[in-house]
Amino acid sequence: MVANRLPVDLDRSTDGTQRWTQSPGGLVSALEPFLRSRKGAWVGWPGIPDVEVDEFTDDGLILHPVTLSADEVRDYYEGFSNATLWPLYHDVVERPVFDRGWWESYVRVNQRFAEASAAVAGEGATVWVQDYQLQLVPSMLRELRPDLRIGFFLHIPFPPVELFMQLPWRAEIVRGLIGADLVGFHRPGGAQNFLWLARQLIGLEPSRGAVGVRSRPGMVQVGDRTVRVGAFPISIDAAGLDNLARTKEVAERTAQLRTDVGNPRTILLGVDRLDYTKGIDLRLQALHELLQEGRVHPEDVTFIQLATPSRERVEHYQRMRSDIEQMVGRINGEFGRVGHPVVHYLHQSVNRKELASFFSAADVMVVTPLRDGMNLVCKEYVACRHDLGGALVLSEFAGAAAELSSAFLVNPHDLDGVKNALEAAITLDPAEGRRRMRALRRQVLTHDVDRWARSFLEALGAEPSS
Ligand code: ADP
Ligand code: G6P
Repeated sequence: MVANRLPVDLDRSTDGTQRWTQSPGGLVSALEPFLRSRKGAWVGWPGIPDVEVDEFTDDGLILHPVTLSADEVRDYYEGFSNATLWPLYHDVVERPVFDRGWWESYVRVNQRFAEASAAVAGEGATVWVQDYQLQLVPSMLRELRPDLRIGFFLHIPFPPVELFMQLPWRAEIVRGLIGADLVGFHRPGGAQNFLWLARQLIGLEPSRGAVGVRSRPGMVQVGDRTVRVGAFPISIDAAGLDNLARTKEVAERTAQLRTDVGNPRTILLGVDRLDYTKGIDLRLQALHELLQEGRVHPEDVTFIQLATPSRERVEHYQRMRSDIEQMVGRINGEFGRVGHPVVHYLHQSVNRKELASFFSAADVMVVTPLRDGMNLVCKEYVACRHDLGGALVLSEFAGAAAELSSAFLVNPHDLDGVKNALEAAITLDPAEGRRRMRALRRQVLTHDVDRWARSFLEALGAEPSS
């Protein structure tokens, strides 16, 4: 496995002590349990600049750290990856910055990842490259090691071609990806967009049929190689989370959490990396208006927002954080009482058990991204609701919406629609709620991350078909 981040982050405190903690984000949540069960190797960055760490083994997983300098963290990671590609691929929700120096750094760092992977992989091994930070690695790695079987998966949306065409280095990115034997996206639309670009930008002749979900991949002939391009919606370790949510410890903690917030009639919950794509601001705005209009009473509801700190030195993120914190202050200022804020906002990460307890305690889970490749949080919520309680409000613009049609689906740009959906979820008839949750659980529990990985590896030809 090759990803920008290792599954663990090196955390250095001011007194010089260091420890490894779980890395943030959906990529690691999804891939770590899968790879651990296979005893694979993982090539990635340990999360802080200028550290040289030797290869080590963590609970059966062999980790190969790649060093990034402080300048590379600024230019390759915060710059090109997260201030150019991230906003460009998420529908230009923020304006992408195009900087030639950042691009050069992206090329250099991708070359380093390719070299590190080439040094680690055994003869004829399967190497699976992950996500937008490493889109040049497939071709660079093929150049170094033609014996390898190379897969690539994009964890974020692949944009409409009109937006992708803004990128000054668009042809280079497509050439980088085409070095893989299989290029995977969450949705058929992403695969279809990529096939169009392969024709327009580098003159290849892709197949023309519609790409299916886990079926009918597109094909592109590149010299004597056939590259497959397909759709593989990612998922979670659903059984693991289901089991965790059924434990006595989680049940006790769930009850405690409800008591801690004053046993309101309804707990609404948001759980996200603090990212401008997640629509945290607009769910707060919807709540604010519902309170102002008296459609929701402050004594009856508590909104809990857990927000993992993310990409804190990137300007887009700094602006968004201060906007969100102002809105939280405003709602609590207008509608809270001493000891009873309406919104509990934690700019923190919590562990899995705590997270399962929050999910179990939440009557309404609010997931309102403006654009999200998949969104795992909504699937995690469903996996924790063995009691068939709770309701899910989910943006149509999350990849997960295509699978979770029994959620309250909303257009996050339509604030009145979001407010109506929140109100409907808060006042949901319990029998109707159980019916919806049963349907959601059927989908999530039968389409877990192991099935996702197997379907990708089978299409890559790295695993026999089941
Ligand atoms: P992204 O990959 O963009 O961050 P996803 O929804 O796909 O979005 O994945 C986010 C992952 O991070 C999920 O596994 C979720 O449980 C986890 N997560 C998000 N916020 C927190 C938090 N505050 N504490 C702990 N885990 C969190
Ligand atoms: C998303 C991306 C991942 C990334 C994660 C956390 O899930 O798809 O590639 O690792 O966010 O972001 P970070 O910038 O902290 O690695």
